[in-house]
Amino acid sequence: MAKDLFRRQVAQFRPYVPGKPIEEVRREYGLEEIEKLASNENQLGPSPKAIEAVQKAALEMNLYPEATAIDLKRALAAKLGVKEENLVIGNGGEELLQIIAQVFINDGDQIITGYPSFNIYVTTCSLMGAEVISVPFKDGNYDLEAMLAAVTDKTKLIYLCNPNNPTATFIDRPTLDSFLARVPEDVVVVLDEAYYEFARVNPDYPAESIARLVARPNTVILRTFSKVCGIAGVRVGYVISSEEIAGNMNKIKLTFDVNRLAQAAALAALDDEAHIERTVAQNYRSLQAMQACFDELGLHYYPSAANFIWVELPRHSKEVFEAMLRQGVIVRPGYLWGWENWMRVSTGTDAQTARFTEVLKDVLK
Ligand SMILES: Cc1ncc(COP(=O)(O)O)c(C=O)c1O
Repeated sequence: MAKDLFRRQVAQFRPYVPGKPIEEVRREYGLEEIEKLASNENQLGPSPKAIEAVQKAALEMNLYPEATAIDLKRALAAKLGVKEENLVIGNGGEELLQIIAQVFINDGDQIITGYPSFNIYVTTCSLMGAEVISVPFKDGNYDLEAMLAAVTDKTKLIYLCNPNNPTATFIDRPTLDSFLARVPEDVVVVLDEAYYEFARVNPDYPAESIARLVARPNTVILRTFSKVCGIAGVRVGYVISSEEIAGNMNKIKLTFDVNRLAQAAALAALDDEAHIERTVAQNYRSLQAMQACFDELGLHYYPSAANFIWVELPRHSKEVFEAMLRQGVIVRPGYLWGWENWMRVSTGTDAQTARFTEVLKDVLK
């Protein structure tokens, strides 16, 4: 009998559907100008300080990167008020999510997530043999009571994306605290705060997550340099957790996962407060214009605390997505999450936002 060549869980995987590359869209539709508002990137570009640091670091590309990213780790620890031992630096948040699954999941363990949310929680844990409980969102946000009710002796991890991708809604302070107080101590809560810097300007956002980690060590906070710092292309993210969890994650990381250019870019971007402020201000300006457009069109949406917004369409999202694509605006259609009539659109510059609203109005008229 032929042996199974692949890990059992691999057979159940569906490949990720990436957005069309801009070049391909340009060629296929004969368009000059394309606006990609599909991946929650920073449309103001990278921090200028990061560009300069990468140019300098490029001269030493012949050398392996510093394995522990020590300069970046020190700077982050000082900024966050934690110990270096509480940190794990990774090749983007995605790598860290993969390590989280590898470090915690044994065959048959259970994880609980909300739905729709960031799909990588499900893929990374399923691959390790976890049973996934996906609890549908209620009124655009986590149904935390249903998630608590789903906890069993087998529950290892609970994922909360705050603010959530794709809905851009957040769990507010009292709701999060009441939830955390009721989760058994031996269940690890992963707080994905990839959009932290955008969300923290909302007074009800539970921005003091590090204090929650002190009170509840089995908590993992995930953040990234990809979004507000605008360096998604070089890949740096980090985890803040207990020394025990961070230590175990660091133990299984690949030695040189965070490359030399990435370390330099992140270190420089970390201190570029002016770029971060500009980015956050532009984000909320773009959101305001988008929301005004949705109001005008009578579309239902949830107020956003991130650099994208989730809006309900009067038609199937594939149809709207394709019609917008033909006019050079790329969005993320909700059917990819199984939410057929919804769409996620990332914020942009004033010009990009104006183009998006103009094309949307034209497509829906
Ligand atoms: C909710 C969430 N978490 C984590 C990430 C991972 O980001 P990165 O791997 O670029 O650090 C993303 C990226 O889109 C995200 O939306």
